[in-house]
This record gives sequence, C-alpha cells and structure tokens, in this order.
Amino acid sequence: MSALLGVYKRFALDVARAEGKYIYSKDGREYLDLFSGISVNVLGHRPQPVMESIRETTEKYLHLSNLFKEDNQEKLAAALIERNFPGKVFFVNSGAEAVECAVKSARKYFNGDKYEVISFKNSFHGRTLAALSATGQEKFSKGLGPMPEGFIHADFNFLASAEEKINFKTCAILVEVIQGEGGVNIGEKEFIHGLRKICSEKGIFLIIDEIQTGMGRTGTFMGYEYYGIEPDIAVMGKAVGGGFPLSAVILNEEVSASLKPGDHGSTFGGNPVSCAAGLATVNAIDEKMLEEIKNSGENLVKIFKDLQKRESSIKEVRGRGLMVGVELDFEAGELVKFLFDRGIIANCTAGNVLRMLPPYNITQQDIERVVMETGKYLKEKL
Ligand SMILES: Cc1ncc(COP(=O)(O)O)c(C=O)c1O
Repeated sequence: MSALLGVYKRFALDVARAEGKYIYSKDGREYLDLFSGISVNVLGHRPQPVMESIRETTEKYLHLSNLFKEDNQEKLAAALIERNFPGKVFFVNSGAEAVECAVKSARKYFNGDKYEVISFKNSFHGRTLAALSATGQEKFSKGLGPMPEGFIHADFNFLASAEEKINFKTCAILVEVIQGEGGVNIGEKEFIHGLRKICSEKGIFLIIDEIQTGMGRTGTFMGYEYYGIEPDIAVMGKAVGGGFPLSAVILNEEVSASLKPGDHGSTFGGNPVSCAAGLATVNAIDEKMLEEIKNSGENLVKIFKDLQKRESSIKEVRGRGLMVGVELDFEAGELVKFLFDRGIIANCTAGNVLRMLPPYNITQQDIERVVMETGKYLKEKL
C-alpha cells in the first residue's frame, strides 16, 4: 500500500530507471515512452547535454536565493527572450504558477481597473484555484467553489464568441494554440490571428499558454510561430526545465515595465540546477531538430491516417509536430492498457483521444510499432 494520496490513475509500473526513449521496470520490462513524462523529457530520459550541465552546476551550488545573480538563470532568460520577443522572464516552478503569474501581471498593468480574463471551453491551464478558474472544463473545479472571479469562457475556434465577451473590465485573452488536455484540438489560423487583432485593437493582452506546445513540441520552438504572430505574454513549462521543475513567463516590454520589486516572487523559482538543465535543453533544440520533429510528426499522423482508412472506429487523426491525438469512437483507456501490456506508454485524454507526446528522437520503427499495435487492438478487441 502506498502512502501517497490517491489522485493519480497509475500504470502498473514500478520504475527501476529510465534512459533515452525507454523506462525500465523493476521486474525487468522495457517500455517505449511515447508520453515523455507528460511532455517534459523531450530529449528522452537523462540526455547527455542536460546531465553534463547539471553536474557542472551541482559542483558549485544547489539552491541560491533570487536575491543574487546566477549565471544559469541569466543565460536561460536571455535564450528564452531571444527565441520569443523582447521583454523580461520570470521563473516559477510549475505550469499553474506560471499561468497565475501571467494573469497577475496583466491585472497589475491595469492596476485593478481591468481584471477579467477570457479563456476557452475545453482549455486546461493548471490546478491552482485561479488557473482552474481559467480552465474551461468544469470537471476539474467541481466541488471546489467558490472559485476566484473574473474568468470567462468563450468557444474555442469561434472568434465571435470571444469578441462578444470583451467589455471594459477585460484585461487579457488566454489561449492554448493547441488544446492538449482538452483533446489535441488545433487552433485555426483565422481564430488565432483574430485574437491577436482584437487584443491589439482593444489594448488588452494576448496570453498564450505554451506549457505543452512550446519547446519545439509542434515543430517550431514556440507553437505561436506557426501562426506568424506574437503574444504579449507567453507561458512556458514542462520541458523548459529539462526534467527539473521549472516554468517561465515571458512578458513583453510594456507589461514587464509595470512590475516593480516586491510585486511578485518565488523561493524556488529559477533554481540554478533547473535553469542549467533547461538551458542545455533549449540549446539542443536547433533548426535541424525542429525539422526532424516536423517530419516525424507528419509521418506519425500519416501512418495513423492510413490505418483510419481501414478502421472506421478512428474518427479523426490530428496533430502538429509531435503533439498527436487519435480520436476514437470508444473510450481510449483500454487501448492505452493494451499498448502498455505490449511495452508502449501512451495516454488517453478527453475520454476518447489516444494522445502521444513522444520524445523528439522517435524513429520510423517506433512509429510503425505503435500504429501496428493500435491496429491489432482495433482488429482483435472491437
Ligand atoms: C496547457 C497547460 N497549461 C498548464 C498546465 C499545468 O502545468 P503544471 O501541471 O506544471 O502546473 C498544463 C499541464 O498539463 C498544460 O498542459
């Protein structure tokens, strides 16, 4: 019996170690990890550049307070600005905290005069109370009320729905360019462009939650690059710490100028070891790797679409880069278990979507293996 709180539905996997694309159980099994620790281990487990960077840092220190200047923090912040837009970076420990910081910053800019945030149905922004208020899925906040006020949900991919909810109290629109937990729902070009335009016209902020789509996941370093736009605030998490707890908020110059010493803080945010691991990861994601992500992702989608032609239980295959969802006409939990029993780790989201967030070094052989096993399940079990 575990002493841990039972809030996770766990795989029957007692981990001995993890290396590259694989997790090894204590009973000697090897699992191909197509979920990458929920999109954290994008370079695989224990990648060499990250291991070296951590080792170098831990020779010097583990934790320092944010009251001192530290090289890894400075370098990672500069690297994130270079790959986003001019402004400043604030580091926190988790995605939810980063969303909180983004919302606080937008509200602080307007000094209480504007405070409403428009986010979208089916979105997911984290488990703290404000992040849950922003999350457009009631199941996550059921029984937790009263929830923080000032969050309004519009229909995803329906510009008019967001537009009609804007009023004199609105300070920001918060959106994922591809909704991850919500079922790998892809933001349409006109929709994301429209949100950018509305925010600029109304003088409010566009906050893009890139916690899942950032760090190369969709084939560009940031997911918003695909749309040829820039947000005012970008929120990063998961892979940005290279396997260590770290998240980042990138605030444009206008927003960052409104925050002064004492306005925000975090004891562990920007821990040197996390920043060292994050820096090595960011540096590893170069143009060549982004090209490989695009190619592997297109291939993964194509091979699943070929399977769809033979299997009517596959309703839709969608994805961008290596963020891929296969929508089924049945609950995907049993399929995830079937794959697990055959040494493949994937995930089920939104009830009937098989979701894959593989490490970036996934091969053609790995792709063929997961599609073949899925095909077997559809033939044998349905
Ligand atoms: C888009 C998005 N935002 C926020 C979060 C919350 O991140 P964390 O679990 O690190 O708080 C997640 C986590 O899955 C996410 O996918």
